[in-house]
Amino acid sequence: MKQDFLDYIQETFEFSPSEMMDFSCALTIPLKKTLRVNTNKISVEDFKKLAIKNNWQLSPTPLGKNMFYIDREDTSIALWNTLEHIAWYMYIQELAASSSPFYLAWDITDQEEYTILDMSASPGGKTTQLAEYYPNSIIIANEIDKSRMRQLHENTDRLGTKNVFVTNYDGRYFSNYPEIFDKVLLDAPCSGEGTAYKSDDALKYWNIKNIKKIAKLQFQLLESAMISLKIWGELVYSTCTLNRLENEEIINKMTDKYWEYFNVVSLSDDLTKPLIRAWPHKEKTWWFFVVKLRKKQSFPDTTKPRKLQKNIQWFEKVSNTDEKIIQHFLKETFNSELTGKFYTYRNEIYYTEKNIDFFWENFFLFKVGCKIWKLENWEFEPNFFCGTDFWIFKKNTISIDEVFLAKLLKWEEIKSDRSEWFFQVYFWTIPAGIFKVKGWVWKTLLESRFLRK
Ligand SMILES: C[S@@+](CC[C@H](N)C(=O)[O-])C[C@H]1O[C@@H](n2cnc3c(N)ncnc32)[C@H](O)[C@@H]1O
Repeated sequence: MKQDFLDYIQETFEFSPSEMMDFSCALTIPLKKTLRVNTNKISVEDFKKLAIKNNWQLSPTPLGKNMFYIDREDTSIALWNTLEHIAWYMYIQELAASSSPFYLAWDITDQEEYTILDMSASPGGKTTQLAEYYPNSIIIANEIDKSRMRQLHENTDRLGTKNVFVTNYDGRYFSNYPEIFDKVLLDAPCSGEGTAYKSDDALKYWNIKNIKKIAKLQFQLLESAMISLKIWGELVYSTCTLNRLENEEIINKMTDKYWEYFNVVSLSDDLTKPLIRAWPHKEKTWWFFVVKLRKKQSFPDTTKPRKLQKNIQWFEKVSNTDEKIIQHFLKETFNSELTGKFYTYRNEIYYTEKNIDFFWENFFLFKVGCKIWKLENWEFEPNFFCGTDFWIFKKNTISIDEVFLAKLLKWEEIKSDRSEWFFQVYFWTIPAGIFKVKGWVWKTLLESRFLRK
């Protein structure tokens, strides 16, 4: 473990030698495996039944009704490769990583329609968690780094989050749009101390100079986030670092500069300790920093105005003719229809039930809702995710068992008594996805990168 880092912790937090020993030992202990049940697809109750069937032991965590520790005796199939994961009934998420959405929502599923910004979102664990806590809200998932976009796209598709819209701005850009969000999550880019248990490399570049540089960006992101927040809106700022500079000092600086414009909302019963700082040696191997702020009045905009960017969408609204073709297909095949809006980019069709006119006019959108369909050889066809969580189709639905589904997902050749058609397949009682029969053989529409090897 890097000595500079340990010295900093000891001096700053005045740990005794024995506490210091506990602290550095705790950093080397692997985290207990945790998962979040994706309640957009399956209820916790049903997931527990599946777990019993698989001989998995689930036990509650302190961070929410959907987060569980998982213990498995048989680990011959990696957790990410289990059917439950491929069908996206769960998201493998570290407990600490689930803390900030937990404190934003207080673990309550809120049916109100809010406008929410996840300012630094990739790979999207917290975005998809927000989509579960706020199923009717518009969630803008922003990420500056294009190379991290793909994960964000995939995770939002897989978890069936049709109310998430992806943007690609420097988070400081949002200060151009005062008071447009009801809630903001700023899970700030940070020095990465939180990943020290994974590898020593995480602390390789640890030095105070770098941390001060990151802290400057964090402060600017927080200012921008507060400006874009509506009055009485709430914001959660979180990091997975332990140093004070990226945590308490950011809030102190905000208080010095803007004390009359916001309140710190207490996250504990002890009002003298409103923010949450979890330690690896105290909270048993997981740590994070979370603070919640509520805006009281408009911020004076002292931030540097960012140049407004041209907004020519790559996405297009689907033409009436194409929409009719899709709806006709749905009616014929599944005796169902969709009431939301369709967008297209390249040959793929995306779907959302939200009205996003404001964002469509003002922001360049990298992703609109959930990818559900594609145009192949001049014909439309649904993709796997189209039949996952959000529609219970009324025709051509079949229930298959675990063995059958596992075979399908391994591309094993399975004969069908139909020559050609699409089916919504149920695994157990929950829609798993859309599969196709072609030439008397079952085909999966799930792209190969998602599949069991
Ligand atoms: C701690 S990670 C976010 C993890 C994510 N919230 C999740 O739970 O999956 C911080 C992210 O901030 C992004 N980032 C860095 N600088 C940024 C900026 N100026 N504006 C917006 N995002 C930024 C990084 O690329 C990184 O993906």
